[in-house]
Amino acid sequence: MSTGIAEMGSTAGRDDRKTARFIAENLKPFKASRIESDFTFVRELLRTPGINQGRPGVAPPNLDNPDHESFFFLDGERHRKRRASVAAYFTPKAVLTRYLPLMQRTMDEQIAELRRKGSAALADMTLQLASNVTMEVVGLTNSDNRDLTRVIRALMNSNFFLRMPRWAAPVLKPLLMWVYRYQRSKLIEALYNDHIVPAAEARRKEPKDDVISYMVKENYSKEAMVIECQTYAGAGVSATREFIVLAAWQMFDHPDLLKRFLDGDEADQFAILEEMLRLDPVGNYMYRQSTIEVPSPDGGHAIKPGDVIAINVREVNIDPKVVGECPYQIDPDRPKRTKFTGSWMSFGDGPHRCPGAQVALHETRVFLDRLFRVPGIRLVKAPELVLAVQTQGYELRGCILACDKA
Ligand code: HEM
Repeated sequence: MSTGIAEMGSTAGRDDRKTARFIAENLKPFKASRIESDFTFVRELLRTPGINQGRPGVAPPNLDNPDHESFFFLDGERHRKRRASVAAYFTPKAVLTRYLPLMQRTMDEQIAELRRKGSAALADMTLQLASNVTMEVVGLTNSDNRDLTRVIRALMNSNFFLRMPRWAAPVLKPLLMWVYRYQRSKLIEALYNDHIVPAAEARRKEPKDDVISYMVKENYSKEAMVIECQTYAGAGVSATREFIVLAAWQMFDHPDLLKRFLDGDEADQFAILEEMLRLDPVGNYMYRQSTIEVPSPDGGHAIKPGDVIAINVREVNIDPKVVGECPYQIDPDRPKRTKFTGSWMSFGDGPHRCPGAQVALHETRVFLDRLFRVPGIRLVKAPELVLAVQTQGYELRGCILACDKA
């Protein structure tokens, strides 16, 4: 991996990245025709009709009714219509009236438990918050939320073949496939019977603005409901959970930023968090498959129909042509100097741009704002980096916090 520091000379500044070396050494992108990392070109690609979703090796779910396919896999008009149908769950009003009070309530419980015990595993705390909020968006709110979080976590981890060395998975798949299928089907039954069914019954009587109400109204099959809930869990829970751990770790290492964060208004808090997410995006690659020809910006090989494009989010976010001085430094004032604001490509761009970005940033802001005001809060053990092939990024595990006991 190039650290870039030497090449950039005096403009390189500090290198605040936590995950860059680990990802460069461990994560190999799925098979793609080309890898793109030019910010302007990538943004144009993501906004171009005919550049479709397309992750190698992952076929869209084959359901009886194509209208019940998860919109993550759709493109064009069908995607636009479905995306419009979820817009109400992500409005500033929904954040203010539904999710922020839930975030505060969850943090009341988390902080009380932390203070009672005097220590906690950070990744457990962030999982509970991310899960509670995403499940409010989905509408899985009529069952035991701790058990739901456990089922979701187990489902997200269920493909143990992805954690094996590359040579081992093909050898062991024929032997262990039944274990994988058995474990998954048990978890899916638990998700459906214990959590989706009670939520669906409640919404049949009284619909709300959430995913379950939509699926009940549209008569989704059991399979389609399970897929949609799982897709939201993957998108909403896992990325947010990791990002909060990352941001907490950065705060412990940068007392100056922590002070600015605790003293700052909401806009300044967001600016700090977005810079952290720019440097350590949770998902390193996004994938697209082209149905059209697109000329290359540098006069190289054009993109051809059928080409699979891997977008290297991390590299896009430090593209020297747009990012300005000190590209590896957390600099909340960067947007004032460059014409770009925000978390760059970490939430994607174009029609599939993350609709939950504001929700995730608020979760992180509320979590850290509560955590770092706890008397005696300290880092006992920094997190360890774990490769997450499925999400094409990192997980942060084993981080232990301590505080003064209440
Ligand atoms: C820090 C946390 C998060 C990060 C880094 C993140 C990142 C992303 C990215 C990069 C995409 C675009 C993928 C692509 O274009 O291929 C995306 C899509 C999506 N995200 Fe997030 N996300 C986060 C949190 C959330 C939350 C909290 C929710 C919901 C509660 C959510 C729901 C979604 C959905 C539904 C999509 C699919 C949108 C579509 O295909 O039209 N995300 N996310």
